[in-house]
Amino acid sequence: MSENQSLDIFQSIRKDAFGALEEASDFETVHKIEAEYIGKSGRLTKILKSLKEMSLAERKEMGSTANALKKEIEEKIKLKKEEFGERGGSNHRDADWIDITAPGKKISRGHIHPISRVLKEVTSIFESMGFEVVEGPEVETEHYNFDALNIPKEHPARDLWDTFWIKPLKNGLLLRTHTSPNQIRYMEKHQPPLRIIVPGQVFRYEASDSSHGIQFYQLEGLMVDKTTSVANFKALIEQFFKKLFKENIQMRIRPGYFPFVEPGFEVDIKDRSDKWLEVIGAGMIHPQILKNVKLDPSQWQGFAFGMGLDRITMMKYKIDDIRLFHSGDLRFIRQF
Ligand code: DAH
Repeated sequence: MSENQSLDIFQSIRKDAFGALEEASDFETVHKIEAEYIGKSGRLTKILKSLKEMSLAERKEMGSTANALKKEIEEKIKLKKEEFGERGGSNHRDADWIDITAPGKKISRGHIHPISRVLKEVTSIFESMGFEVVEGPEVETEHYNFDALNIPKEHPARDLWDTFWIKPLKNGLLLRTHTSPNQIRYMEKHQPPLRIIVPGQVFRYEASDSSHGIQFYQLEGLMVDKTTSVANFKALIEQFFKKLFKENIQMRIRPGYFPFVEPGFEVDIKDRSDKWLEVIGAGMIHPQILKNVKLDPSQWQGFAFGMGLDRITMMKYKIDDIRLFHSGDLRFIRQF
């Protein structure tokens, strides 16, 4: 073999090996390339083995080139193996080893959040009493959240709802502070008689404590007909609590102020530690609200209510801090 010929061979081995390694995209392929070039009967190995038949001068020349190339290829293979996740050389079989006798891993199952569960239950109770479920936007306009509900700008009642405004302020967009805007939205488009509930999240820009969160669920209720009365409201709510808690719980209705009802009430239920817990704001729809949606208050009347779903969930599952619902603490969630 002439010197030039032998250099050609090394060059082509080098080119092939590096080309293949460059393209290799998994561990197996790298392993095959390793065998093909520097394995027991690899291309380069064969040349190295044939050195002994050569003259001393040839051996010196070819030997050092062959060894240098072998080193180069080995280095490259090592890098490639590291890239595909093998630690420490040739024991990749350990990583691939599977103990087929090991017991299977249990797949952990998720479950429904307690608020979602109560929401489903509450919804189906109202559905069974003839109410239709409706939804509305979480990003609301100042008009629907306040003005149309009889709470104009500068009205002191706005202080009842600390608000997250969406910048820029002049657009009058906000995160709804209650589900009540949907009374207006619905009555603008539908003629009475009507019975709806509107569940959804609401947002308040205020300090939180064990019974106040900045984000919680409400369920708005609305019923309008010719003779709908406070007595109807009381009967409905009593029936509702009976179905939800499946036991007689104590409830009281006391006067309350909300600009969109007249008269307005608050409904409390007694919790297990004998404390009254406020869970509903309600009232007879204010005549001005009916006028705002072009209904004649001398023909139609109705009641509206807004129920705090988090508090009802707390009561049902004996949870003592509302902030736990959104804490992201799995130890809490897994109890249900
Ligand atoms: N929207 C009120 C609140 O978040 C609750 C409420 C009170 C809703 C009276 C009503 C109602 O529909 O009639 O505080």
